[in-house]
Amino acid sequence: MKKQYEKPVLSRQQLEEELVETNARLLQANERLEQMEQTRMELFSNLSHDLRSPLTALVSSVGLLKSDPEMPTEHREELLDLMERRLRSMQTLINDMQLLTRVENPQIPLKLQPVDMGAFLEEFFCECETDGKYGERKLELVLPSAGKAVVAIDPEQMARVLDNLFTNALKYSSRGTKITLEGACEESAYLIRVRDEGIGIGSEDLPRIFERSYRVSKSRSPEDGSSGLGLAIAKGIVEKHGGEIGCESSLGKGTVFEIRLPIR
Ligand SMILES: Nc1ncnc2c1ncn2[C@@H]1O[C@H](COP(=O)(O)OP(=O)(O)OP(=O)(O)O)[C@@H](O)[C@H]1O
Ligand SMILES: [Mg+2]
Repeated sequence: MKKQYEKPVLSRQQLEEELVETNARLLQANERLEQMEQTRMELFSNLSHDLRSPLTALVSSVGLLKSDPEMPTEHREELLDLMERRLRSMQTLINDMQLLTRVENPQIPLKLQPVDMGAFLEEFFCECETDGKYGERKLELVLPSAGKAVVAIDPEQMARVLDNLFTNALKYSSRGTKITLEGACEESAYLIRVRDEGIGIGSEDLPRIFERSYRVSKSRSPEDGSSGLGLAIAKGIVEKHGGEIGCESSLGKGTVFEIRLPIR
């Protein structure tokens, strides 16, 4: 009896094409894994590097306290204050590291909701106006006059981004200068700008400011126990929204950060 052969579902050429495609997908997945491993190693190395100096200061302070039980109260209190500052900066660093890891983890999604951007910016701005720390700056809000722009954002995360940009604007500017928050609506994107009249960033540093722990120079950053991760976190949050963040700056004149959020 003649054997009946079933028609092959895929031709040889189709099979080959599929194999090539699967191979490419595997290669891509492998590259992503390698990138993630690289990121993990960098995080690890930055974390241990940045924790070492406050830890060293703490160990020697404890040594001093132990070796001199008769230490004058004034000196002892100074030492305890220093220890507290170091501990706080370690705490900030660890919290920010954890936040950055969460932001960069695709398995932790944003809590997106439709938000009227004008109202959102206004609310953030009012909070800054009532926050004493901005008391010596002129704060300005510029919003588009026409229409309501609704964008899907995670308001808590986006407020965190704005908070970092405003805190930076404050840290790197002087009394009496202006900090402006702007909203603008384009056809397919909503733009948020934070503008300051501060010390600015040089062109050689500008491409690196979104890197983890990058500071233009330690000497010009106030000793506030910050982690230097603020802009890396901000970039991670904006990109998780499918948006972009960029910066233009001129030394001695000021800086503008621009966030571009897609309107879907
Ligand atoms: N508005 C600004 N004007 C001038 N320099 C800025 C401004 N914003 C950021 N920078 C520079 O970019 C660096 C990185 O900013 P980033 O917000 O990541 O870190 P930070 O403010 O030092 O610390 P953190 O945000 O973690 O508290 C800053 O240390 C500073 O040198
Ligand atoms: Mg910052």
